[in-house]
Amino acid sequence: MQRIKATGPLTIAQFMKEVLIHPAFGYYTTRDMFGKSGDFITSPEISQMFGEMIAVWFTNEWYKIGSPKPLNLIELGPGRGSMMSDILRTFNKFNIHNYLTVHMVEVSEILSKIQSEKLCTSVENYNTDSYFYKSGKTKIGVNIYWYKSIQDIKMEQFSFVIAHEFFDALPIHKFQKTKLGWNEVLIDIDSEDKLKYVLSPGPTAMSKILVDDSETREHIEVSPESIIIMEYLANYLEQFGGIALIVDYGHNGNKTDTFRAYKNHQQCDPLTEIGTTDLTADVDFSALRKAASDKLISFGPVTQKKFLEQMHLEVRLEVLLKNCTDDYQRKLLQSSCRTLLDENKMGSAFHFMSFFPTVLKEFLKHYPPVGF
Ligand SMILES: C[S@@+](CC[C@H](N)C(=O)[O-])C[C@H]1O[C@@H](n2cnc3c(N)ncnc32)[C@H](O)[C@@H]1O
Repeated sequence: MQRIKATGPLTIAQFMKEVLIHPAFGYYTTRDMFGKSGDFITSPEISQMFGEMIAVWFTNEWYKIGSPKPLNLIELGPGRGSMMSDILRTFNKFNIHNYLTVHMVEVSEILSKIQSEKLCTSVENYNTDSYFYKSGKTKIGVNIYWYKSIQDIKMEQFSFVIAHEFFDALPIHKFQKTKLGWNEVLIDIDSEDKLKYVLSPGPTAMSKILVDDSETREHIEVSPESIIIMEYLANYLEQFGGIALIVDYGHNGNKTDTFRAYKNHQQCDPLTEIGTTDLTADVDFSALRKAASDKLISFGPVTQKKFLEQMHLEVRLEVLLKNCTDDYQRKLLQSSCRTLLDENKMGSAFHFMSFFPTVLKEFLKHYPPVGF
């Protein structure tokens, strides 16, 4: 409120950044928001099978291209570290861990503490002079590092990159088409000292840069930070080799107004209870594809249901059920599998998209990635 009073209305991107990752008051930087008692639950938190399927997918694609090594495993926005834990356990079974270094891109030091407690036998913290702010050894003896930004990873080698529910947390700008052109949606204060949306009086510097001339929608959301990360990733994977898997809810460049908040598993108004609700917007997969298009080829987006079914999630469920004698655990396994696949829930809301260097184009025409 003070900032708006001092310098005028905020863009949605400035508001999201301030609310989500402010070092002292940010939603992500001050709490563990996952699980039943939190604000939302994610697929990796629902079942170990989710991370296992992702590990099997990377392993399979990596074998197909001749298993280049050594390897980075990079996760963007690793939450509680559950998916990384399930991936590492699976890689250990395939003996891939011997070639591996793990890189966690996590802006929240609270979450990074939860991650290192889950994954590591030893941890060391560093001052700001270092590219990484923490390092450690995982339970299976793999070196692991934590960074605030993907650009800080200096180990240049073939990489697996996974981003699950990461891009939807990145700031967006919102633009509305008017008679004057593309005006930007901003956040201001009303006469009762409450936050409200307003439109910029005319086109802004951002709307001039970010809105495509060919745009046909009346209202759009653009995440420049997502585009910058994707461009960086594309350069990196083209230069050093690698495979990226992005999983999120999103659309193919056709949705309009998706900015929203969640608290206690309910959708709510982003302008109330600030700092205690998760802010999010659907990922524009077409923008990610475009950002990477001259360096990477992409597959998808396909629904989570399609991806997990083609990865034979149900076969994995059968194996786990065979080894499980506890009735409660058996029911839990079955219901979590249903939740992941449910067409009215996560099965259709979440989408998978994969990226490979363009040099593999011809090869992938003959041997396309599983699940796409
Ligand atoms: C919605 S959570 C998803 C966590 C996890 N991938 C999962 O699915 O359970 C978003 C994650 O991204 C992290 N995050 C959000 N904004 C970030 C940013 N700008 N840079 C790095 N990490 C960020 C959060 O701290 C959190 O770990």
